[in-house]
Amino acid sequence: MESLRLQTSSIVWWLCIASIVVVLVIYGNSDAPIGPSDSESDSPVSFLIPIIQLRSKVITTSATPSVSDDHKIVISSSNHPTPRLLPNQTPPSEVPKPKRKWRRDQSELEEGLARARSSIRRAAAAAASGDPNRSSAPTGHDVVPHGAVYRNPRAFHQSYLEMERKFKVYVYSEGDLPITHDGPCKDIYSIEGRFIHEMETGAEAGRFRTKNPKEAHVYFMPFSVTWMVKYLYKPLSYNLTPLREYVSDYVRLVSEKYPFWNRTSGADHFMLACHDWAPNASAGNPFLYNTSIRVLCNANTSEGFRPQKDVSLPEIYLYGGNVSSKLISPPPPNSPRPYLAFFAGGLHGPIRPILLDHWKGRDKSLRVFEYLPKTLDYDSMMLESKFCLCPSGHEVASPRIVEAIYSECVPVIISEHYALPFSDVLRWEAFSINVEVSKIERLKEILEAVPEEKYRWLKENLKVVRKHFELNHPAKRFDVFHMIMHSVWLRRINLRVA
Ligand SMILES: *[C@@H]1O[C@H](CO)[C@@H](O)[C@H](O)[C@H]1NC(C)=O
Ligand SMILES: *[C@@H]1O[C@H](CO)[C@@H](O)[C@H](O)[C@H]1NC(C)=O
Ligand SMILES: *[C@@H]1O[C@H](CO)[C@@H](O)[C@H](O)[C@H]1NC(C)=O
Ligand SMILES: *[C@@H]1O[C@H](CO)[C@@H](O)[C@H](O)[C@H]1NC(C)=O
Ligand SMILES: *[C@@H]1O[C@H](CO)[C@@H](O)[C@H](O)[C@H]1NC(C)=O
Ligand SMILES: *[C@@H]1O[C@H](CO)[C@@H](O)[C@H](O)[C@H]1NC(C)=O
Repeated sequence: MESLRLQTSSIVWWLCIASIVVVLVIYGNSDAPIGPSDSESDSPVSFLIPIIQLRSKVITTSATPSVSDDHKIVISSSNHPTPRLLPNQTPPSEVPKPKRKWRRDQSELEEGLARARSSIRRAAAAAASGDPNRSSAPTGHDVVPHGAVYRNPRAFHQSYLEMERKFKVYVYSEGDLPITHDGPCKDIYSIEGRFIHEMETGAEAGRFRTKNPKEAHVYFMPFSVTWMVKYLYKPLSYNLTPLREYVSDYVRLVSEKYPFWNRTSGADHFMLACHDWAPNASAGNPFLYNTSIRVLCNANTSEGFRPQKDVSLPEIYLYGGNVSSKLISPPPPNSPRPYLAFFAGGLHGPIRPILLDHWKGRDKSLRVFEYLPKTLDYDSMMLESKFCLCPSGHEVASPRIVEAIYSECVPVIISEHYALPFSDVLRWEAFSINVEVSKIERLKEILEAVPEEKYRWLKENLKVVRKHFELNHPAKRFDVFHMIMHSVWLRRINLRVA
């Protein structure tokens, strides 16, 4: 019985590999994509995210079963061995009819998105023409994005409101604990667990979650790559095959059980992971890697991260489950910042050796440490510095960026190929400094050359963006949970499921 199951699953796996998907990309003026605006041009809407019209045509070839599959992890759906009959679902006996109804639901869904798209475009155009009437923010809400930190505050606000009104996410129930439906809620990869829990049980996420997969705009696969590493990876083996197999099995399971994955080859599906190895694990299914929305901390554009479809996830370090108490409340205004800049951290990755080589222990105002002396306190150093250096480590993201934002210490981003979080709505140049790796030796000169006025402007702007990087429980409007949701929403509205 078990071996039969394994064999069947391997046949299916081969079919998946052999299938070809025809993807049609249409750029059209009439359907200009909603996207981040280009800071260089005055046009509030630029066309970074193309509208993709997906037509999926699966060509199956006769497949031969693969050989030994002993190590395959088969994900069982413990809770729901067969697809549940959901409230709005018609009984299986009426198969042809619900199909037609489903088509209609689908086209209604797409029409809703089209309306959202045009209302966002109108808000963006109104902002461009300076007509206050057409884009005036609906009242009754506390937060109205405005100011220099937003690429286009009105378009963002409109898009955010449309998301709150319409966006529906279906969370797959398949998969067992601990690897699915859970994730770390402490330490460096905590955002995995916090997001999954919020999505599955959070009251605020409840407004986005739907139990009816037919009315969903996107489908969430709630597995944790960090837990895969913990439970499936053999330490020091550097063999990530078990992770890729888990991911591959998970996708196969949901694509066999539900019609949604095959409909778009996964383009309206998303995963979220903060672990360094998440991009590698996501290669377990070629369509997940190349077509789905991957929400990743390791947003390295030279390692397959594509900002048009993937989402850059901020890394938030939770010591024992919380943001460090010194950083949690905003620092008192005008507290003295005697140091020009601060960094403490190990020699990981390609960039830090250069930084430490040039600056470790060299300067009294640009404080760079490999190991922070016991007499100094990390958070206090951030609170006492004007700039906080955030070089990439083993991977592009660094929890220092969010810590710097909390401590109102202007982040100095030193990285290559890093797609910064939420940069489709936020203008990072309004609240951070970017220093090229080749200019590390001139770091002090560069930071000293920032005019006082500009420094104060950057610092004020940090107060504005702080809310977008906060983890709340329960989640609050415009916080990091909602910004992640908005990033996914933005990618989904630029996609039309034919
Ligand atoms: C804005 O609305 C007011 C009244 O609602 C109207 O008088 C005014 O002409 C409008 N402005 C523009 C630019 O359309
Ligand atoms: C989706 O496609 C795969 C591969 O062709 C197939 O095995 C699977 O049964 C399909 N799923 C559904 C629900 O039809
Ligand atoms: C990532 O996956 C590839 C196979 O696609 C593998 O060869 C490589 O070693 C993996 N990377 C790491 C860090 O293990
Ligand atoms: C993604 O697509 C590229 C280009 O078609 C292909 O070479 C690559 O193998 C795909 N990635 C994965 C993980 O399958
Ligand atoms: C984290 O903060 C929450 C709320 O302030 C508190 O209830 C909890 O005990 C804290 N956890 C730890 C480990 O400090
Ligand atoms: C990003 O990816 C490139 C290409 O694989 C790699 O050389 C580089 O080290 C990565 N960056 C970081 C910080 O890991």
